[in-house]
Amino acid sequence: MLCISGKGYNMKNFSKSCVYQIYIKSFKDSNGDGIGDIGGIIERLDYIKNIGTDYIWITPFFRSPLNDNGYDISDYMSIDPVFGSMRDFERLISEADARGIGIMLDMVFNHTSTEHEWFKKALEGEKKYMDYYYFVDGEPDAPPTNWASKFGGSAWEYVPQLKKWYLHLFDVTQADLNWNNPEVREELKDILRFWKDKGVKGFRFDVINLVSKPDVFENDFEGDGRRFYTDGAKMHEFLKELIGDSGISEMLTVGEMSSTSIDNCIRYSNPAEKELSMCFSFHHLKVDYVNGDKWTLMKPDFNKLKELLVSWQLGMQQGGGWNAVFLCNHDQPRAVSRFGDDRRYRCESAKMLAVMIHMLRGTPYIYQGEEFGMTNADFNDISSYRDVESLNYYKIMLENGTSRQDALNILAAKSRDNGRTPVQWSSGENAGFSSAEPWISAAENFKEINAEADLKSESSVINFYKKLVGLRKEYNVISDGEFIPVGVPDSRLFMYKRQYQGEELLVICNMSGDEISWNDSAAGGYTQLLGNYEHSGKSLMPYEARVYYRK
Ligand code: GLC
Ligand code: CA
Repeated sequence: MLCISGKGYNMKNFSKSCVYQIYIKSFKDSNGDGIGDIGGIIERLDYIKNIGTDYIWITPFFRSPLNDNGYDISDYMSIDPVFGSMRDFERLISEADARGIGIMLDMVFNHTSTEHEWFKKALEGEKKYMDYYYFVDGEPDAPPTNWASKFGGSAWEYVPQLKKWYLHLFDVTQADLNWNNPEVREELKDILRFWKDKGVKGFRFDVINLVSKPDVFENDFEGDGRRFYTDGAKMHEFLKELIGDSGISEMLTVGEMSSTSIDNCIRYSNPAEKELSMCFSFHHLKVDYVNGDKWTLMKPDFNKLKELLVSWQLGMQQGGGWNAVFLCNHDQPRAVSRFGDDRRYRCESAKMLAVMIHMLRGTPYIYQGEEFGMTNADFNDISSYRDVESLNYYKIMLENGTSRQDALNILAAKSRDNGRTPVQWSSGENAGFSSAEPWISAAENFKEINAEADLKSESSVINFYKKLVGLRKEYNVISDGEFIPVGVPDSRLFMYKRQYQGEELLVICNMSGDEISWNDSAAGGYTQLLGNYEHSGKSLMPYEARVYYRK
């Protein structure tokens, strides 16, 4: 691990690391209640160790009414009994330590659950705690601004007994915290110190670039309000304070950045700024949104995807920033269904997409099940869905005149539940996830697509991921090389180079299901390091990916 010295402390570089993301509710159930838990994670540590990832980011398991599956926290320093106990967590930390794996926790600091003690006291009119949130005077029929909640509807909710509105950028049960209040910031530092003392090795900060709100709330006549609170005025100051004061600057810290800019992400992640180790940005995943609207059906625009990946690679590189690179997480449909072909070329396209991401400059993230090519859920009944955002938007779509079937088709492509079905461990009962009926159904294809079957074959998707994770550790050109875009002879291809002290890597991805003729001279002087077809021939096969190397 390279260290860049700053004044007072070091900011680490995570170029050789790879993070495995666990959405705990759907990962593995250990006690037969149909809900994934900490015990289930412990059972699968060897499985994760085998992939070679050095960190595990676990989505929130803190006490919560679970309206947004744990992103609505009612007590940040205790564990929800449905996920296990503090003793289970301590055992997880020591078992992970023993395997050289660091545990990263998910800190949801933009909002708390309305069930949190702080919010309950605020509702009782206690001044101290009202100042923890944004309570604004107003008439019951006139919200303070026209801002929209990201889960649909207004971002404001009226509280009759207080004659005030409170702000919620997400669900009505997720009230936004007032970071302009220094007491709130102190509370959050205490939470970080608490988990640091337990042996946690990193943190993911949920929608962190939304926490700096303006002093005065005004209507947005151009959009949904986001321009007033995204990458807000005090963001950089707040992050420096939070990370510095809680003593976690040496850890892996990643911020989830909603609708952000390259310039801000450079500052968030450049070690000299002493803010975060890296950023998630999402522009490259909006290439199948019609005019920015997620709830539409559109084939991904691959040229736009390439353009966005390239501009973020170059921009962050020039500014000394660092990307978290990824295609899948618990808020996204499965990449192989979205950008690949999840039927005929499932394994080929899953591997091609893996190459595309893992050879980039940045720290790659693997989302549970991605490593063996899990697909979208293919639900076709509203009763199968659990996600609050999907259920809200289903209603909104019907109200706006979309037919039931069209709305279901849109959910089938876009719902977050696509990434939240139980991990398909085996072809057994409930996909090997639980002895009981899972809280959300498994995708029907679990009999064919599952970890157990995949592990059996030498040429499996999981073994391919293992190679990619290993290559990053072995080759400095992958971890630390300069990113150089390469013009393509055919728009269905994506190519780039990496360079590091006389070493060079050439990456070629066929993003289509077509066979494309290919002039081998482009790879003259290189040797092939990796590919997703057994033999690389004169043409590029459907979804073929090749990685060439020379020194
Ligand atoms: C982030 C989380 C998402 C959650 C939202 C509100 O985007 O990844 O799952 O619903 O924040 O906390
Ligand atoms: Ca359980």
